[in-house]
Amino acid sequence: MIKGTFPIEKFKQVETPFYYYDLDVLRNTLSTINREAGKYENFVVHYAIKANANPKVLKVIREAGLGADCVSGGEVRASVEAGFPNKKIVFAGVGKTDKEINYSLDHDIFCFNVESIPELEVINELAAAKGKIAHVAFRINPNVGAHTHANITTGLAENKFGITMDDMIPVIEQAQQMKNIKFVGLHFHIGSQILEMDDFVALCNRVNELQDRLLKHHIVCEHINVGGGLGIDYHHPNHFPIPNFADFFATYHKHLHLLPGQTLHFELGRAVVAQCGSLISRVTYVKQGTGKQFAILDAGMTDLIRPALYQAYHRIENLTSNEAEETYDVVGPICESSDVFLKSVDLNKVHRGDLFALRSAGAYGEIMASRYNCRELPKGITSEELA
Ligand code: LLP
Repeated sequence: MIKGTFPIEKFKQVETPFYYYDLDVLRNTLSTINREAGKYENFVVHYAIKANANPKVLKVIREAGLGADCVSGGEVRASVEAGFPNKKIVFAGVGKTDKEINYSLDHDIFCFNVESIPELEVINELAAAKGKIAHVAFRINPNVGAHTHANITTGLAENKFGITMDDMIPVIEQAQQMKNIKFVGLHFHIGSQILEMDDFVALCNRVNELQDRLLKHHIVCEHINVGGGLGIDYHHPNHFPIPNFADFFATYHKHLHLLPGQTLHFELGRAVVAQCGSLISRVTYVKQGTGKQFAILDAGMTDLIRPALYQAYHRIENLTSNEAEETYDVVGPICESSDVFLKSVDLNKVHRGDLFALRSAGAYGEIMASRYNCRELPKGITSEELA
């Protein structure tokens, strides 16, 4: 089995489970993003903090010059603390509280991505109380489906996100009347782990159509934000560690018609951080079951919930054995039947104490960990700390 490159001798001295972040992979990914997006004037890339807010990871992303996309006051704070410039922070989410809005107003963030009229009214009031003008973009639900897991598609009419297309113009006109609001743009996000460029083409077509409608009402946006969603190759992290950013940005360049002076913003999460991270775990026991054998890890669904929640696949490698492969169900120690990472997987013969890597876990891994069963949260360790 082909395996990733890991400092295994160093790993042996570290308490498991932990997340390992390979900063070379992260930096290569970021320089590819900057190179490919940099080909097009007016493309601006934000990093979706929700994918991974580990301060050591955020520092590298901030150094590469990306902005921050946030969905809670906590994420706005994490971005501020990681040193992202206020003018590069956007704040989205269907349920922003007064406290979160006030914190963001105090930091003069670039833009609120607003999802309803009641929210717009509250932002206007709170901005007025501070004598500020809040910049807002409206999240529009484009009713565009995406070929991905049902739990992570967001752009359909039935989803809770955004303002419907029919309401778009009245809402913008209402915002334009408000004293403490400046309308600056439109925001979209159709889902996550999208690998078919045609899904993004469908979004571009819809955006073009909506922009035409706006122009008829003499409404011009300073920016369009198309969210994130670019998927990664969970099956081949060693062969394809860097997602296809060239195609992704070229698709938007080709299909989305920007008006003169308009900027196009992206909010990429998974594609930035997934492949730099692995969950490293030790085998606690090898147990014989009925017609199968289990490799029981010290990591469980509390450390990486994606397999249990979305039936997501994460490639598993046994880093400390090269013996002939056998077939295992790889499971965690949590008292839940869904605490299974992968069934019937061929791995180099497993022994108690072996170190496993669960690959492509840099996005929606550490950040979604919980303390269920009174477990400790996994730590995040970078390649530089182990060098
Ligand atoms: N912008 C908005 C408004 C979003 O809701 C999201 C993700 C992103 C950007 C970033 O999307 P990305 O580039 O990472 O696809 N926990 C799930 C994924 C949930 C994504 C939620 N929204 C998972 O583990 O697959």
